[in-house]
Order: sequence, then structure tokens, then C-alpha cells
Amino acid sequence: MRKATRRDFVKGCMAAGLAFGLPRAAGSTGANSDVRLAIVGLGGIDVPGGVGGRGRQLIDAFSKVRGARVTALCDVDTAILDHGVQMMKKMGVEVTTCTDLRRVLDDKNVDAVVVATPNHWHALAAVWACQAGKDVYVEKPFAYNIWEGRQIVAAAQKYGRIVQVGTQSRSSAALRQAGEFIRSGELGKPRYAHAVIYRPRASIGRVAAPTPVPSTVDYDLWSGPAPIEPVRRKNLHYEWHWIWTYGNGEIGNNGPHSLDVCRWMLGVKEPPRHALSIGGRFLFDDDGQTPNVHIALLDCEPAPILCEIRGLPEDKKPAGSFRGVRTGVIIQCEGGYVRTDLTGAKAFDTQDREIKSF
Ligand SMILES: NC(=O)c1ccc[n+]([C@@H]2O[C@H](COP(=O)([O-])OP(=O)(O)OC[C@H]3O[C@@H](n4cnc5c(N)ncnc54)[C@H](O)[C@@H]3O)[C@@H](O)[C@H]2O)c1
Repeated sequence: MRKATRRDFVKGCMAAGLAFGLPRAAGSTGANSDVRLAIVGLGGIDVPGGVGGRGRQLIDAFSKVRGARVTALCDVDTAILDHGVQMMKKMGVEVTTCTDLRRVLDDKNVDAVVVATPNHWHALAAVWACQAGKDVYVEKPFAYNIWEGRQIVAAAQKYGRIVQVGTQSRSSAALRQAGEFIRSGELGKPRYAHAVIYRPRASIGRVAAPTPVPSTVDYDLWSGPAPIEPVRRKNLHYEWHWIWTYGNGEIGNNGPHSLDVCRWMLGVKEPPRHALSIGGRFLFDDDGQTPNVHIALLDCEPAPILCEIRGLPEDKKPAGSFRGVRTGVIIQCEGGYVRTDLTGAKAFDTQDREIKSF
């Protein structure tokens, strides 16, 4: 069998919509120099609306990447873990399993750790993985807050590890070309970038009293670095996105995809000098705490970024679209604009006439 080359691996990652780092020559010791992956956090299996489950999607995605091999699964919910094992069995792959991610870090047969836990765990899991000599693919948002993100960067530098964040779009050739077009100046100077996130949402309802933790879950491990609080929502899994202790709302959920594209296309290298943010929870009477309608203005160089979120109920149909975009980005320049839905992109002149497609 032909050995996977670094080029094969990167091409495979791009095809799978992943942005994983190159296997380091001396870092991976699996057969055929495969990068042996542990997926940490597989995702809710019965959350209403079929939402959640990023880790399971990543099992599928990484299994298609030449040069990568999923060898271990970890989840604090044994029902979810069993589900993941069955999924791997159907693919003809045996994996080791654990509920405590520290066992993954002890495992000499794991080269890299994929962190798809709730956000409050990202930094600690990534830092521990670096300390244990593993490379890391951590889901967006990179960390729960800026301080925690900086600890991951410091750990990656200190322990010489590769750490990548799953914002995805950077592996799109079309978006790369669109960004080069903007930065070439053909459309004039950029005036601002507009991240449009009009993603309809369902209410998560309301509970009268804390709900019991499922018997299959080690809640101490689920809570990890966060305080151990009663579960004040119907579903432990996924709905934490809308609870401040664990999640960052839609701006930390779909926000990182679009904001990353804005920064990339504009060539922003530094954090914003100032940020202004307003939002609230509208049209829902539920246990969610984070805003579902939210505007953030980021004072970036060379141009400001506006992030606009409308996570309104689908049945009321108020979300609409802006310049044909429901989820995507518009980069407004002096001589026209570029519009992307995060897969392809088109450029328009000031009269809204299409002048280029990527
Ligand atoms: N890149 C993308 O397109 C994309 C899409 C969806 C979600 N995500 C990200 O993936 C992450 C997971 O989101 P989700 O929607 O799948 O949530 P989820 O609640 O469905 O899944 C989280 C899983 O992590 C498990 N878990 C919690 N703590 C753990 C720990 N210490 N060790 C091991 N497992 C643990 C939970 O039991 C659950 O199975 C989030 O950070 C989210 O932002 C990224």
C-alpha cells in the first residue's frame, strides 16, 4: 500500500472541510506514519432538532483523510460513547474508549487530540494535550474567552505543538481567491466587513425545576473547569450553547466561522482596538440566557467588522436575508463588494452587477 504523503494528508483535510496541521515527521509513530487521533466529545444523540454532535461529524470527516486514523474515543456520557463505538464498528474500526480525557493523554497510541467538547472545556483540554506532547485540533470557538485562548497559544509555543482551530473556511480555494482579489485592491480600499448570521432557531423551552443529569453522564467531568451547577434546561447536551457558564451564544457558535472569514479577507492581524456589542433574547420565552439578536462592531485595521446575528424563530419568518446572504460575509469596498456564503464567492460593482465569481 502506498504511504500517505504530507500533500495527500492536507488535500484530504481540505476535501473533508478540515484544517488540520501537517503530520510532523518525528511526531507520529503509528503504522505508515499515520496521525493517530483521539476524538474527545462526540456530541448529543437525541437533542431536539438533530443539532449537536460535532465530534461524530469529525469521526466521519477524519476517517476520510488519508494519513489520519481515529484510534480512540472519549466522552463523559457512556451512552454517547457506545453510540460512537457502534459507528466505528460499522466502519470496521476498533477503538479504545474512555470517559476521562486524561486517559487519552496517557495513551502512547494517540498523536493528536480532537477537542469537540462544550466551549468551557476547550482551553484546559488543549493545554493538557500540549503538555502531554499531543497536537491539537480544537473546535471553534478556540476558547471560552480571550484569556483562556492565550493560555492555549502559550502552551502550544512552550511545548512546541501544532494547535489548529476548526473554523473551516480557510481550506476553501474559492475563499482564498476572493480574499486575494480583495487585498489586491482591484475593488478599491475595503470600507467594512459585514458578517451576516441569520440562522433561525427553535425555542429550548422552560423547565420549572432543575432537570436530572442523565444516569449515563459523569457530570463532574462534564462540568470540568466550570462550577457544578444544577441543569436548568431540558437537555444537558447542545443547549449549553445558550447558557453563559458554558457557552458563548450564537456569536461564539456560528460567529467564529463568519468572523474568521472577515478577518482573513481583510488581512486583519491584530485583535480589535475597541469593541461595541449590544444584544438581547427576543421572541423566545425560554431558559436560554445568551442573546439571539446581537450586533457587534469590531474596530479593526484596515477596516471595521460588523457582526449581525438574528437567531429568530423559523415559524415567524422575520430573519430574511441581507443582499442575498443569510449566513455569510459581505466585504464592502470603495468600488464594489464581495459576497460569500462561506463556500463560494462573487464580486459586484457599485451598481450590484456581478463582475467576478470564485
Ligand atoms: N466547526 C463546526 O462547524 C462546528 C459545528 C458544531 C459544533 N462545533 C463545536 O463543537 C463543540 C461541540 O458542540 P456540539 O454542538 O457537538 O455539542 P454537544 O453538546 O452535542 O456535544 C458535546 C459532547 O462533549 C461531551 N463532553 C463534555 N465534556 C467532556 C469531557 N470533559 N470529555 C469528553 N467529552 C465531553 C458531551 O458529553 C457531548 O457528547 C462546540 O465547541 C461547538 O462550538 C463546531
